[in-house]
Amino acid sequence: MDFGAGFAPLSQGEANMALERTFSIIKPDATRRNLTGKINAKFEEAGLRIVAQKRIHMTKSQAGKFYDVHAERPFYDELCEFMSSAPVVVQVLEGEGAIAKNREVMGATNPADAAPGTIRAEFAESVGENSVHGSDAPETAAVEIAYFFSGIELVG
Ligand code: RTP
Ligand code: MG
Repeated sequence: MDFGAGFAPLSQGEANMALERTFSIIKPDATRRNLTGKINAKFEEAGLRIVAQKRIHMTKSQAGKFYDVHAERPFYDELCEFMSSAPVVVQVLEGEGAIAKNREVMGATNPADAAPGTIRAEFAESVGENSVHGSDAPETAAVEIAYFFSGIELVG
C-alpha cells in the first residue's frame, strides 16, 4: 500500500510493544529522605504513568511474604527488617513495555553498578537500601499488584 510522501508507519518494534503494568515500591530509605516526588518524576519523565499509589507501613511478616522468593538468601532477614522499618509507597506503573522500562529507570541493584541518571545511581544508599523495587516479569508483576491493590483501586 502507498502511504504517500512523509508517512512513517510504526516500526515493527513499536507496533508490537504492549501497554503493560508493573508493580513498584519506593523503599524506606527513600521515604525517610522525602524523595517520593523526585522518584515519581523519574518515572513520569520516562513515560510511565502512576495509575495507583498508596503509602503503607508493612509489618515484618508482610515484607517477608512479599520477598518470599529470597527466603533462602543470606540477606533475607535484613531485607525484611529494612522493608518494615518505615513507610513505603506502593505503586502500579503503566506504559509501553512498562516492566523493562521501569527496570531501566531503576538501574542496577547495587548503586555502584547503576547507570548514570538512574534512580539507584542518584538516590540509593547501598545494595540493600536501594530506594526502589520493580517487578522483573509479567507473572511477578501480576502477583505483586494483587498483593497490595484490589481491582477497584486500579483506575487507569
Ligand atoms: P528488587 O527486587 O527490590 O526490585 O531488586 P532487584 O530485583 O534489583 O534485586 P533482587 O536480587 O531481587 O534483590 C531484592 C532486594 O534485596 C536486597 N539485596 N540485598 N545485601 C545484599 O547483598 C543484597 N542483595 C539484594 C536489595 O534491597 C534488593 O533490591
Ligand atoms: Mg527483584
